Amino acid sequence: MKLLIINGPNLNLLGVREKSVYGTMSYTTMCEYILNEAKKLDVELEIVQSNTEGEIINFLHAAMDKFDGVIINPGAYTHYSYAIHDAIKGISIKTVEVHLSNIQAREEFRSKSVTAPACLGQISGFGHYGYVMAIMAHLNTVDKDI
Ligand code: DQA
Repeated sequence: MKLLIINGPNLNLLGVREKSVYGTMSYTTMCEYILNEAKKLDVELEIVQSNTEGEIINFLHAAMDKFDGVIINPGAYTHYSYAIHDAIKGISIKTVEVHLSNIQAREEFRSKSVTAPACLGQISGFGHYGYVMAIMAHLNTVDKDI
């Protein structure tokens, strides 16, 4: 299985930004951890990150015919990007949304995800382990017509 992880804005600042919320692990270390876990699960994995909405949409379009599944953490775009919602719907690739923090337990504006309804499901609040959970979700769910 070949999966693509797309990380959105400010996730490159992990280990620096709001450590009490997102922890002290750097973005690079987190990516190494996820790539290593994927290897153990025999999953081919690519990870990309962008701070801009259009580039995230381009990553989603480019995933067509190349990946069996997508894992996305849209960062703050989660809460208002109908364009990313539409792109996820448009590519018809099984997509799992991940959030490091528990978005339900934070500020009111974070409790709504406009992108999650376009996904198979959402994993939130388990830190970097959430990405491994999302890989497991891809491995253990039957294909759904999304
Ligand atoms: C986040 C949650 C978002 O609300 C926030 O804007 C982020 C990170 C998370 O992984 O917990 O940038 O997506």
